[in-house]
Amino acid sequence: MQESTQGESKTAQLIIDGTTYELPIVVGSENERGIDIRNLRSATGCITLDPGYGNTGACTSDITFLNGEKGILRHRGYAIEDLCEQGTFLETAYLLIYGDLPDETQNEEFVTDITRHTLIHENLRHVFQGFPLKAHPMAIISSMVCSLSAFYQESYDWGDTQNTDITIRRLIAKLPTIAAFAFKKSCGQPFIYPDNSLRYSANLLKMLFGVPCESYEADPDEAAALDQLLILHADHEQNCSTSTVRLVGSSRANLYAAISAAISALWGPLHGGANQAVLEMLQRIHDDGSKVEKYVELAKDKDADFRLMGFGHRVYKNFDPRARIIKKTCDRILEKMGVSDPLLDIAMELEEAALRDEYFVERKLYPNVDFYSGILYRALGIPTEMFTVMFAIGRLPGWIAQWREMILAPDMRIGRPRQIYNGPVARPFVPLAKRGPCPARSAG
Ligand code: CMC
Repeated sequence: MQESTQGESKTAQLIIDGTTYELPIVVGSENERGIDIRNLRSATGCITLDPGYGNTGACTSDITFLNGEKGILRHRGYAIEDLCEQGTFLETAYLLIYGDLPDETQNEEFVTDITRHTLIHENLRHVFQGFPLKAHPMAIISSMVCSLSAFYQESYDWGDTQNTDITIRRLIAKLPTIAAFAFKKSCGQPFIYPDNSLRYSANLLKMLFGVPCESYEADPDEAAALDQLLILHADHEQNCSTSTVRLVGSSRANLYAAISAAISALWGPLHGGANQAVLEMLQRIHDDGSKVEKYVELAKDKDADFRLMGFGHRVYKNFDPRARIIKKTCDRILEKMGVSDPLLDIAMELEEAALRDEYFVERKLYPNVDFYSGILYRALGIPTEMFTVMFAIGRLPGWIAQWREMILAPDMRIGRPRQIYNGPVARPFVPLAKRGPCPARSAG
């Protein structure tokens, strides 16, 4: 492949079987470059092959810029550090979804609208009773979010912008209520209804930790720390769950269904589920006598099927800027609460040991957002199984923004990757009585 310049626009030249094809090079606002291959197959008969999509851009986007080599994360041009320090989660949500920070009037309207949609339909409330006590809260929230579409069927008309705006507000308002109810269900406590006099994160803490027989007021520093955690998770461009929202949404499935699918994608331990996996790993190391070096060695052993959870990232080949921010807040909150958490000590030891180990240095494996978020959630009293749920609440505005950008894009098409088929070529059908056993099932 070669690069050439024709007038102002650049192209890449691809030579297949002696024929040269010109492919346009698309340049983003931060000078990221991509080769536009949308006509490749019709022109050449070839497709590209990229398992895991490490080099595949599925869209152009104005929402989030991240530079994994330099450890930069910006939403609509605003640095994540500034949003965390000076913004609120709902302002960040507005920024992601509508393209800029709201002014005072817009902010007031947005916050009021969301506050007024926090209740869930009483019939939906009864659905919680059907889940087993030990159900994972991610299973509950993905089902419940999909169920919302049964209650708000106008959301099927995805071309109606007014409906879309209401659906967006309903989702942001109701997900914390659903999440808190899922938690209450797991511990056999009564559901605590939302309190619309409270701000978003304080209300979430109250629904999680309040009980009808006692008054509860969230500590303002803890509510602020939670708000910051939600901001930190708000978007991260085309990750697994966001790509899921885009793919499901591209079939014109309603937004609730697309978000429910994203929640399922987030659940996995290589993605959002890593925050739960980190805590479980730290606990395992602690229970095993805090032998940090043993686990660093285990993570390097290709036969061991063990990874250092909370380490490594497909895009970041430097410190994840979100991990730095969380670590600072974590230190501050733990100090204020007077909590000394042995798992935090192990986490710090593990980080140090990994960062000086050749294996991790060579592969540029640094702590990611999930490495310290679990310690902070734990300090806030949030149980391990709820960590990924908190991630989902934070990521919701990003999913919505990416979905909205996609449906408004003039070049939107249903997402439909291709493949290179490698299976058997055409063969005659063998009647049941004449067949041998299926080799894949009879081996061993
Ligand atoms: N521990 C040990 N080795 C690792 C780790 C790790 N955490 N992560 C990557 N590697 C090794 C991997 O074995 C491979 O080695 P080699 O080149 O010798 O085969 C090399 O580093 C590259 O790894 P990869 O699996 O090809 O990288 P990827 O981009 O496909 O995967 C990742 C990225 C995040 C899934 C992976 O680093 C990982 O599994 N990390 C642990 C899980 C985790 O913390 N996930 C949260 C990600 S951040 C938040 C989010 O996305 O939700």
